Formats: sequence, structure tokens, C-alpha cells
Amino acid sequence: MRKLIVSTLATALAGLVFALPAVYALEKGPAVIDLNAQKNHADVIKKPDKKHVPSFPHHDHQDKFVKGNQKYAKFQYTDDWTCGACHHTTAKGEQPESCLKCKDVNKMLEKVGGADKFENIYHQNCRDGCHKAMDKDKQKTGPSGKCKGCHGE
Ligand code: HEC
Ligand code: HEC
Repeated sequence: MRKLIVSTLATALAGLVFALPAVYALEKGPAVIDLNAQKNHADVIKKPDKKHVPSFPHHDHQDKFVKGNQKYAKFQYTDDWTCGACHHTTAKGEQPESCLKCKDVNKMLEKVGGADKFENIYHQNCRDGCHKAMDKDKQKTGPSGKCKGCHGE
């Protein structure tokens, strides 16, 4: 009997040890990203480089900024799956990847007028979609009006 309990416990523990990494092993990507499609995704975006966003606070968005702000967002997500606020083609618990390399990138580009208008993806979803909506509601948020706020120049 005792042996049975011990072996049941051992099995349960082993199960936990193997199940946990599946939830927590997601690659979070860089803490801060220099969003520059021409530099980072030269194979997808060919138009001349004009502006970039030198320091997009990626981890702060994941851990703080988007939490609790679902009603302002275009894409559905939960506070325990904040990745979905931006990586909207990634199912909950799956590993997100770079937006301009994802399986639906062509569909997304088509929707905003083609690769030469790729910035509309960011302007629509980040600037107008979340920031402007929160601003209107007097919530503290990222830049929505001034180009400099994001582009830094
Ligand atoms: C919420 C942040 C944000 C704000 C505010 C913003 N942008 Fe952007 N914009 C971006 C992002 C992100 C990109 C993609 C940058 C990249 O990958 O090169 C971008 C890209 C661009 C591009 C394409 C640049 C290139 O090299 O091809 C242009 C042009 C641009 N923005 C103009 C503007 C102008 C003009 C304003 C102000 C009226 C503005 N943006 C405000 C986030 C913002
Ligand atoms: C506020 C929007 C936002 C949220 C929330 C977000 N990301 Fe990202 N993530 C981005 C952007 C923008 C990029 C850069 C896309 C590109 O260059 O095409 C990116 C890139 C990545 C990359 C690729 C990095 C690389 O260098 O190839 C990974 C991995 C990633 N994110 C993981 C995550 C995970 C995991 C979460 C949730 C815990 C998350 N992201 C939440 C916007 C976000």
C-alpha cells in the first residue's frame, strides 16, 4: 500500500515537472525591440527605410501595459495570455513569432494595401487601435498623436 502511494506520488510529480515547461518555456523575445522592418525583415519589406521605432518596450507590454485593457484592443486576449493582444494569429499557449514572418503575413499585408504600406499594420493596431482608444478614455497609455513618441525623431 505504502509503495503504491509513493509510486503514485512519484508519477504525479514527474507529470508536473514535465507539464510545467510546456506552459512556461515560451520564448519571450527581446525586452526592447528596435522595430525596423527594412533592417529586420529585408526579405519581406523592400521599400526604402524612412522611420523606425528604436525602442519598443516589448516585455513591459507583455507583463504590464496590456493587462486589464482588453476593451481597448482589437484582438482578444486574457491577462494570462497577453501575447494574444499583438500576436493575434498565435493560439493561446503556442509560441509567438515575428509579425512579419508569421504564416498569415501576406493576408495581413494585403489588408493594409500591400507590403509598401506595411506601417498601417502598426499604426492601425497599436497607435489607433489601442493607444488612441485608451487616450480618449483618459487612460495612461503609449504615444498616439505625436510621431516622435514612437519614432523618436
Ligand atoms: C504607436 C507608435 C507609433 C506612432 C505614434 C506613429 N508610428 Fe509610424 N510606425 C510605427 C511602427 C511600429 C512602424 C514600423 C516601423 C518599422 O518596422 O520600420 C511605423 C512605421 C512608419 C512609417 C514607415 C517607415 C519605413 O521606414 O518604411 C512611416 C512613414 C510612419 N510610421 C510615419 C508616421 C507618422 C508620420 C506618424 C505621426 C503622424 C507616426 N508614424 C506615428 C509606430 C508608430
Ligand atoms: C504589444 C504588442 C506585443 C505583445 C503583447 C507581445 N509581443 Fe511579441 N512582438 C511584438 C512585436 C511588434 C514584435 C516584432 C515583430 C517583428 O519584428 O516583426 C514581437 C516579436 C516577438 C518575438 C520574435 C522576436 C525575434 O527576434 O524574432 C517573440 C519570440 C515574441 N514576440 C514573443 C512574445 C510572447 C511570448 C509574448 C507574450 C508573453 C509577446 N511576444 C507579447 C509585439 C508584442
